[in-house]
Amino acid sequence: MAAAGSAVGLGNIWRFPTETGMNGGAAFILIYVLFMILFGAPIMLTEFTIGRYGQKDVADSFERMSGGRKGWRLMGLMPVVAGLLVLSYYAVVCGWTLYYAYVAGIDGFAGKTPEQYVSDFQQFAASPTEPLIWILLIMIITCGIISLGVRKGIERGAKILMPLLFVCIIVLVCFSVSLPNAERGLKFLFYPDFSKINGSTALSALGQAFFSLSVGIGCLCTYACYFRKDVNLFKDSLAVAFIDTLVALMAGLIIFPAVYSVPGLTPDAGPSLVFITLPNVFQHVFGGASVFAYAFSLLFYVLLVIAAITSSISMLEMVVAYFHEEYGWSRPAVAVAVSIFCMLLAAGCSLSFGVWADKTVFGLGMFDLFDFIVAKLLMPVGSFVMCIFLGWVVDEKTVRMEVTNGGKIQTVLYPVWRFIIRYFAPIGIILIFINEIGW
Ligand code: PHE
Repeated sequence: MAAAGSAVGLGNIWRFPTETGMNGGAAFILIYVLFMILFGAPIMLTEFTIGRYGQKDVADSFERMSGGRKGWRLMGLMPVVAGLLVLSYYAVVCGWTLYYAYVAGIDGFAGKTPEQYVSDFQQFAASPTEPLIWILLIMIITCGIISLGVRKGIERGAKILMPLLFVCIIVLVCFSVSLPNAERGLKFLFYPDFSKINGSTALSALGQAFFSLSVGIGCLCTYACYFRKDVNLFKDSLAVAFIDTLVALMAGLIIFPAVYSVPGLTPDAGPSLVFITLPNVFQHVFGGASVFAYAFSLLFYVLLVIAAITSSISMLEMVVAYFHEEYGWSRPAVAVAVSIFCMLLAAGCSLSFGVWADKTVFGLGMFDLFDFIVAKLLMPVGSFVMCIFLGWVVDEKTVRMEVTNGGKIQTVLYPVWRFIIRYFAPIGIILIFINEIGW
């Protein structure tokens, strides 16, 4: 449940439509789904296996599984670096979501024109101060949950609330596909136009698959050390990958039909896309300004905030677990220190939508740069290393015993998975990088 909570989040509902829009639609989605099956789910299983074998933090898990080789402890730094970076920009989008829940609460979407949704969002995101308040609130909530040790409670609650979010999403899909011009959105989603694919589409699709499953940076490893030894890791990783893909595709079904019904909006609008189109869908839910439309949009945003928070706590958790297990520092103290540090970075990321828009590195603002480093560098590199580790470094019997629960699970998936992590995934990841660089 915790792993599913980490996986399903704004990566599905915000990042997936954003990337799909910027990469030309259906052809990108096809590659993404393929990558989820061929890379995402198998690497998730890889990370689960390492974590559950180790039963401690990432550094210890790698050392133990390698048969005591100290050098592998370095992998323990991955969750620290990646966790700090990812939380710092993810919190910005969580903050936007929380603000939208507030706007829904004060009935702020009612009676506005589609153009107003565009300008309202742009004004809000570019403001040097307003988003910071909401980001700070998200940080306080995330840090509070980790410090008070109530993470498990939250995740148990999410077990009930996430199916509710799922139902809301289905309802929204129905409304969105009935908007004027919706068929253009469906065409964008389902008729692949392969001329839209360019040198960087593959890495974007890979990055999206990894980001949305939270794989490659030790987050799932950190969670898997709490897994019971009788859990079927094959089933769990497939189930999480399946649900995660389904939620992303449904988010696409909400956003793109709506994009074409908002005047002046194009699918490649970037990170603002979801926030501009969703209110437009809500306007049409139950015929506009009714009490149902109000209640429904509020419910949706509140559930979305919860989904976002179960992901943000997993980001903070992986950093806190490292310092707690390695140095014995108290969890609340580490949680507070890390949150303050991330809040400062998050402020920078938020400003990159406004006053710092012109401060760029390689043409990317701070927010986009962090996203690039996490999804397109650290996650693929981390995944590559994990595949090599389980496929070539650890002896086969140890891996087999762990993943099949001591031989109890007999499945054809084992040899398939073994082939993927030994050959297919490492070679595939290298080729995707080569393709990106354009050699
Ligand atoms: N997978 C999460 C989402 O889809 C984001 C995430 C990335 C969580 C990395 C933890 C680690 O929102």
